[in-house]
Amino acid sequence: MATAALKKTALNSVSQISSANIPNNRIVTLDEFILRSEKDFDYATGELTGLLRDIGVAAKIINREVNKAGLVNILGMADSGENQSGDTQQKLDVYANERLIECLQNSGECCAIASEENDNIIHVPPVTSKPSHYVVMFDPLDGSSNIDVNMSVGTIFAIYRRKSDPSGPATIDDFLQTGTKQVAAGYVLYGTSTMLVYTTGRGVNGFTLDPSIGEFCLSHRNMRIPENSQTYSVNQGYYSKFDLEMRRYIDNCSDQNYGLRYIGSMVSDVHRILIQGGIFLYPSTRKYPKGKLRLLYECNPLAMLIEQAGGKAMNTQLKRILEVTPHDLHQRCTIAIGSPTMVDELKAFIERYSALPL
Ligand code: AHG
Ligand code: MN
Ligand code: MN
Repeated sequence: MATAALKKTALNSVSQISSANIPNNRIVTLDEFILRSEKDFDYATGELTGLLRDIGVAAKIINREVNKAGLVNILGMADSGENQSGDTQQKLDVYANERLIECLQNSGECCAIASEENDNIIHVPPVTSKPSHYVVMFDPLDGSSNIDVNMSVGTIFAIYRRKSDPSGPATIDDFLQTGTKQVAAGYVLYGTSTMLVYTTGRGVNGFTLDPSIGEFCLSHRNMRIPENSQTYSVNQGYYSKFDLEMRRYIDNCSDQNYGLRYIGSMVSDVHRILIQGGIFLYPSTRKYPKGKLRLLYECNPLAMLIEQAGGKAMNTQLKRILEVTPHDLHQRCTIAIGSPTMVDELKAFIERYSALPL
């Protein structure tokens, strides 16, 4: 979006807001919004504020590299394994992982990190004598197979307050908390424009990166998901591998002439659904009997966001995603997430057909 158009959009959206704490007559940057919202946090220590800002910084750095990805391929650097300076050329998801870890390690507000790209938790040594109370989990690059074809990808993050004693090292139990315990969650979408969307449990707000000033600007205030829609999102190539109830639901979508949209990057699909409504499904398949997507850094943060926007998220056992008990850092789960009426409709199909003998 051209800068002028972006600013106009930002101003138009902001002019509709009523919060006394957020100016409604000018552009509000992410940093200003976070600072002004600090009083809303349950723990107004400034630590969470700092963490969100650090993630915003990492997002800008990752965005710069994502935007260059096509160019790097044209120059033949991605395949060579080395760039012209002799540095090893890294896959973008590894790059994104490293930048996020760096930004969080230097911030002093996070005591440990978990990532899709790391088997185990990463302890963060304290930067000052002040103990840090938060752990952060993320999927550094979601939908990374889309990079090669210039399609949207994203970063997903979840922030929890640690349970363990702040004077000692963080433990795995600080990460194995149910999604209801998230204190903040969000995503960055590197799309036609780059957006950061997050929640601290008091609604969902979206910020669009204005590349000319290098700032995320408030563009989508208090986002609400449409109650219902006629669009569904699932990898229908796996149709024959789905359970009966899921096949019946998909048949019904088709019978009703619902539209099918599937990007193959959960962030992108969920972002579209947040704005336009719909349902995103990743049920069990023969290859992934427990579902493919990861509970802690894919499903939980997006479930918190969607619920905060008025939507619903459950697994195919009809359990609310945010209440699923985690027992493993990289645990997978099935998911149905989106407009509340559509999730309820799917629930009715599952209740009806899963009772039938195969
Ligand atoms: P990631 O790139 O982090 O591994 O995640 C890919 C995920 C998710 O973003 C997407 O919705 C899903 O995998 C696509 O899977 P299929 O190709 O099996 O449809
Ligand atoms: Mn992912
Ligand atoms: Mn990933």
